[in-house]
Parts: sequence; structure tokens; C-alpha cells
Amino acid sequence: MTAAHAQRRDLAVPPRDAEHTELHPDLNRAHVRFINLGKTYDGTVHALQGIDLAIQRGEVFGIIGRSGAGKSSLIRTINRLEQPSSGRVLIDQVDIGDFDEDHLVALRRRIGMIFQHFNLMSAKTVWQNVELPLKVAGVPKLQREQKVRELLELVGLNDKHQAYPAQLSGGQKQRVGIARALVHDPQILLCDEATSALDPETTQSILGLLREINRRLGLTIVLITHEMAVIREICDRVVVLEHGRIVEQGPVWQVFGDPQHEVSKTLLAPLQQGLPPELQARLQDLPTLAEAAVVLRVQFTGSATDEPDLAALFSALGGRVRLLHGGVERIQGHALGQLLLAVSGSDHGADALRQRAGRFAQQVEVLGYVA
Ligand SMILES: Nc1ncnc2c1ncn2[C@@H]1O[C@H](COP(=O)(O)OP(=O)(O)O)[C@@H](O)[C@H]1O
Ligand SMILES: [Mg+2]
Repeated sequence: MTAAHAQRRDLAVPPRDAEHTELHPDLNRAHVRFINLGKTYDGTVHALQGIDLAIQRGEVFGIIGRSGAGKSSLIRTINRLEQPSSGRVLIDQVDIGDFDEDHLVALRRRIGMIFQHFNLMSAKTVWQNVELPLKVAGVPKLQREQKVRELLELVGLNDKHQAYPAQLSGGQKQRVGIARALVHDPQILLCDEATSALDPETTQSILGLLREINRRLGLTIVLITHEMAVIREICDRVVVLEHGRIVEQGPVWQVFGDPQHEVSKTLLAPLQQGLPPELQARLQDLPTLAEAAVVLRVQFTGSATDEPDLAALFSALGGRVRLLHGGVERIQGHALGQLLLAVSGSDHGADALRQRAGRFAQQVEVLGYVA
């Protein structure tokens, strides 16, 4: 404890950060903080550049981006599996850049990690896989047994103590991986594509377990995934990387409800409800008949505090309003989504309809006309 305190004092953020800290008081309490972080491989591959980011204690933080964007490089600097080429990583305000081997071993015990392919030892039982890191750390037998039993209970593998990895399903293997990652009571759990090898149902159960661990143990979870539904399901905030740089970050509801960057829009596109092809085919740029209906795309980005008031919206539009497609979902208590409406017989022209709908929704677009 004394050593840790001395370490903390020695490596505390130097005064040159005072200005930064004043702007963002939360940065000072960040659990993980990257300051102008850069990572270059072989002197030529710029995997990370100018990363400034603060992850708060107890949050579930998502990292998304295309393949090769630098996600794994970034997460691996947190436990120094990757050594940054420039900039700094602070854990609890302590710069881990100058850690020697002993400090790194201690650091890695405070930071658990799980992987896409589980990385279990096939010749060892479930029990032995979870027990191994405790053995390596020299924890006495009785304490080891207590810890392993407790963790296998937590991850729901009470009946699998003596099973070998080959006898387990993917979800069960990842549960072993999670138990093993928690043996040293870490404060941070890193997950690199931890559900990517699992079917959707198993993914749900692993996410449920991660959420429970986050709540029950107060763990900070940093999670990489290419599955946007995973981010939507359990993350509090998300950062989008592209070519090693941060292009967007924010609360999940905000980034999902109104993505700003091209990459975020592309990544989130599978979740967005596009125009159904059948409707697209019927859509005309100009009204061919006097009674053609105006098609509006009415988007709710979650930024309003009120839920969409449909009666008020329809009455402002006037005429006959038909719902063609769409819906609203809730993320972190915010209502997000879009409605495709066909308005006919209204006294208002297309542009006036767009403006009127704009009183009730964040974004409104005239898509065209249908007969
Ligand atoms: N050990 C390495 N040696 C050389 N280049 C690497 C190494 N690890 C990653 N890279 C390169 O760094 C970039 C970022 O990789 P990575 O962090 O794995 O991205 P992601 O996890 O987003 O797919 C890629 O161009 C990748 O090829
Ligand atoms: Mg990766």
C-alpha cells in the first residue's frame, strides 16, 4: 500500500496539465486517461495518433471502428501489452509509462482481459484454468479454492468444474475466460471482440453477465466490438476510431441517434431503418397527380426530453397521415428512431409540412411523393 502511494505521488500528473484539468474537472478523476497517445509499428504504420480520451470509473466504454482502425492497439496500451510510441496513459492518475516489470505484473493483476478466442488451456479443466493465475501469483491453496469456487458460481459454471474446454460451448468457454480475468479482483476489465465468436443468443447472455459484473463489482469495462447491437445493449459511452484517430465520441444514445462522422454513419447503418426497397421504387421526385401524398422522413435523435407526441404532430400536418414504416426505440432513456409518413389532402405544401413536423422532431426530410 505504501509502495503504491509513493508510486502515485511520483507519477502524479505534472502541473503542465493544470490547464486541461481546469477545463474538464472530470478528467482528473478519470479511471483511464490517454494523453496525446501515439503508436507506430515498424516506424511506418501509424496505428494511433493524438488520442485524448478519459474513461470514467464504473462505466462501460465502447470502442468501435473499421478493421485496422487501431482499436486493439488502443485497448492494449491500458495494460501495456502494447507500449505507446508517444504520449501517456494514466490509470487512476498514475502514468504507467515508466513501470518496471514488477509494477507491470501488479498493474496487469488490476486489469483483467478477455479475448475473442477465449485463450483457454485445452489440457486443463475449467477449475485449473481459473486457478492457474492464482497459483502463479503464489496465492495459498485454501484462498485459491475459495476464489475459484466463488467465481465459477458468479459466471454460472458450478456444474462444470471438472470439464475440459473441448467439452464446453462457446458461451461457457467465455464464462471461464471471464472468471479467469477476475481472479485478482481487477478494477478494469478489457474485452477485445469478446462476443464475436458467439451466436446472438449466447452473446446476449455474456453481455448480461458483463453488465452484472459491472454493477455488482463496480468494474470499469472497456469493450471493443464490431457488433453495434452490443454497444447499444450495454455501453454508456462510445468512441469511434478511424485511421488511428478519434473521429467521434459521446453517450451511446447521442452517437446512435445522430452520428456525425461518415464512419459512424456507415458502422451504424445496419441498425438504421432505411427506406424499404418496395417503397423506394414507388417514390417520385415530383407529384404526378394532384392528390399524390408527400413522404416525410421524421427523425427523433433522442435529444428532446419529451417523447414524440404523435397526435400533435399529425394535427399540425393536417390531412390524412399514413404510417409507411418506422418506429422508436429507447437507449439510455432517450427515444430514438424515425417514422416515414405519407401525408395527403393537407392544406400545406411539402416545404410547409417539413417545417411543421420540425416542431416535433429533430430532423425532417421530404423524400418525395407517392401516388
Ligand atoms: N504487431 C504489429 N506489427 C505491425 N503492425 C501492426 C501490429 N499490430 C497492429 N498493426 C497495424 O496497426 C493498425 C491497427 O491495428 P489494430 O490495432 O489491430 O486495429 P483494429 O483492432 O481496429 O482492427 C493496422 O494497420 C494493423 O495492421
Ligand atoms: Mg482488433
